[in-house]
Amino acid sequence: MTFPPPPGPGSVALITGGTGGFGRALTQQLRERDVTVVVADLDTERNRSVADELGAHFAALDVTDRAANEAVVARVEAEHGRLDAAYLNAGISAAKSDDELDLEEFLRVVDVDLFGVVYGVQAARPAIRRAGGGAIVVTASLAGLSPMATDPGYSVAKGGAIAFVRSMAPRLAREGTTITAICPGFADTAIIDRIRHEFEAAQFPVIPAAEVAAAMVAAWESGEPGAAYVIQPGVGTVPYRFKGVPSARTATGETAVVPEALRPPSMR
Ligand SMILES: NC(=O)c1ccc[n+]([C@@H]2O[C@H](COP(=O)([O-])OP(=O)(O)OC[C@H]3O[C@@H](n4cnc5c(N)ncnc54)[C@H](O)[C@@H]3O)[C@@H](O)[C@H]2O)c1
Repeated sequence: MTFPPPPGPGSVALITGGTGGFGRALTQQLRERDVTVVVADLDTERNRSVADELGAHFAALDVTDRAANEAVVARVEAEHGRLDAAYLNAGISAAKSDDELDLEEFLRVVDVDLFGVVYGVQAARPAIRRAGGGAIVVTASLAGLSPMATDPGYSVAKGGAIAFVRSMAPRLAREGTTITAICPGFADTAIIDRIRHEFEAAQFPVIPAAEVAAAMVAAWESGEPGAAYVIQPGVGTVPYRFKGVPSARTATGETAVVPEALRPPSMR
C-alpha cells in the first residue's frame, strides 16, 4: 500500500473545530512538524486568537453550511497552494440528558456531527486529489460504536459518520486519499465539562487530548482506508474489528455471491 505524503514541512492541513480541545492539541503536534495548519471554527474573537497563539491560520466556518465548507477549502488552496489533510473534527453533544427526546436538539447534533462531516468530505476531496492524494480524518466517537443512552442524536451522528467513512473509503483510496475515523472514549476537553464531576466522583479516567491528537497524526501518516481507531484510557489506540454480518444463502445452502455491480471496483 502507498501512504499519502506524511505530515511535514510543505504540507497543509485543515482542522474543523480546530480551536477546541482536540483541535488545539492536534494543531500543536502538526506545528511541531512544520505543517501549515488552517484552523476552521465558529467566528469568534476567542477562536481567532487561539489560532494565532498556536501559529495557525484561522478560517471562520460553520460546518453545517455547505457552501462555506467549499469556500474554506478554496481559500486554503488559494493561500497555501494545496491541501494534504482534512481533519473533520467539529462536534457538539446534547446539552441535556433527560428522558425526553428533544427533536430540535437531536437534529442540530446530527447536522453538525454527521452532515458537517459529509459536507467536509465533499469539499476537501477534490483539493486533496489535486495535491496527489492525502488523508481525511473524521473525529467520530466510541459512541458511534457503542451508542450512549444519554444522547441518541450524538450516537446516531457518530455511528453515521463511521458508516460514511467505511462506505467512502474504497472510492477515496482509488484516488490516493485515506479516510479514517477516530473513536475516542471520554476525553479531557470542554465537551465533557457538563459531566466532568461525574467522572471525578467515580474516579473514572479520561483520555488526555494529546493522546487523541497523536492518534489523529498517526491516522494521516499510516491509517488504513476505512479504519475506525478506538482510543480508551489505559488501552491506547486500537483499530476496531467489525464483526461481519451473516451472508445470504442460496436455495441449496451455499453462500450467495453479491452481484458484481454492488461490490466496490477493487473487490470485483
Ligand atoms: N472529548 C470527548 O470526550 C470526545 C470523545 C469522543 C469524540 N469527541 C469528538 O471530538 C471532536 C472535538 O471535540 P472536543 O472534545 O475537542 O470538544 P470541544 O468542545 O473542545 O471542541 C469542539 C469544537 O467544535 C467547534 N464547533 C462546534 N460546532 C461547530 C460548527 N457548527 N462549525 C464549526 N465548528 C464547530 C467548537 O467551537 C469547538 O471548537 C467532536 O467531534 C467531539 O464530538 C470528543
